[in-house]
Amino acid sequence: MTSAPTLCIADLTIEFASRRRLARVVDSVSLEVWPGEIVGLIGESGSGKTMTALSVLGLLPRRARLSSGTISLGGDPLAAKSEHEMRRIRGRRVALIPQDALRALNPVMRVDAQVGEPYEIHRSMGWDEARRRAVDLLDSVHLPQPKLRAREYPHQFSGGMQQRAMIAMGLALEPELLICDEPTTALDVTVQAQVLKLLREIRDTHGTAILFITHDLGVIAELCDRVYVMYAGAILEAAPVAELFARPRHPYTQALLRSTPTVRSVQAELMSIPGQIPSPFELPAGCRFADRCPRRHERCAAEPALPAAALNHVARCWLADAHDD
Ligand SMILES: Nc1ncnc2c1ncn2[C@@H]1O[C@H](COP(=O)(O)OP(=O)(O)OP(=O)(O)O)[C@@H](O)[C@H]1O
Ligand SMILES: [Mg+2]
Repeated sequence: MTSAPTLCIADLTIEFASRRRLARVVDSVSLEVWPGEIVGLIGESGSGKTMTALSVLGLLPRRARLSSGTISLGGDPLAAKSEHEMRRIRGRRVALIPQDALRALNPVMRVDAQVGEPYEIHRSMGWDEARRRAVDLLDSVHLPQPKLRAREYPHQFSGGMQQRAMIAMGLALEPELLICDEPTTALDVTVQAQVLKLLREIRDTHGTAILFITHDLGVIAELCDRVYVMYAGAILEAAPVAELFARPRHPYTQALLRSTPTVRSVQAELMSIPGQIPSPFELPAGCRFADRCPRRHERCAAEPALPAAALNHVARCWLADAHDD
């Protein structure tokens, strides 16, 4: 391993101010993605996954405030960067593949023009050269008949093809970090499997670090090396994937695994755990899962810390084993 993680988020807190109230949507989150690693970030809707991702790109909504924490790329802290520098970092060093590819693509621009645009803007290539490179890229993400299809508009593509075009665009400048925000949710199972295979291929070929956001445990099992479990803005458990599935330590993770019919079924979504995720306006003083936890006891009135243990297996629970493995 090299000496610095590709992405290092330390103690990140993000708040929204609204009607004189403060919503803490990301609460002291720390996570790392190392070169060549595919790391999953899993959590229910509203747990703060997208806000965490957007903070890395410097694209938080205007009312969101980064109230504490640091974000570094390859050891380089982002806090001091100007908007101009952040614009160069987006695309060149970090690319985001969003959930809704069709909405992220420009409807009135042909696909080759969009995929080739980073080459024109960042690499000062002429149109012909940029277009040729765009077709090569579309070929590398296995778009069928890339030369022909590249001349089409996004709405002429299927969902899977649109997602491939987004991935191709993200890869144009060979970023060291790819953040995928639920990129396969809208796709059918076969196409989803193909996109996951493509992401693994990209990691194997280029050593790209990938942060993969999902609420699908099947996808985590299929794709990731390590995983962070997020709940109501906080990381509750972090572990290598095989460890998490074999020996989940946090009662929340245990409940998630129980609620998933079979871990390998690709559609296995987080099913119902009784109760609701607490509101970011009213986070409880103690453990934020206590209300829904079947193993709650007196100590849970105080929130346990998540041990800082880099790439090991850790859980934010009084009952979790104190040792690392
Ligand atoms: N513009 C906004 N203003 C106020 N609150 C917001 C805004 N955007 C998001 N939030 C809140 O921030 C919290 C975290 O949202 P986020 O989008 O990060 O969740 P998520 O984990 O990505 O959920 P999903 O799985 O549904 O995409 C939520 O409670 C959400 O209501
Ligand atoms: Mg989201």
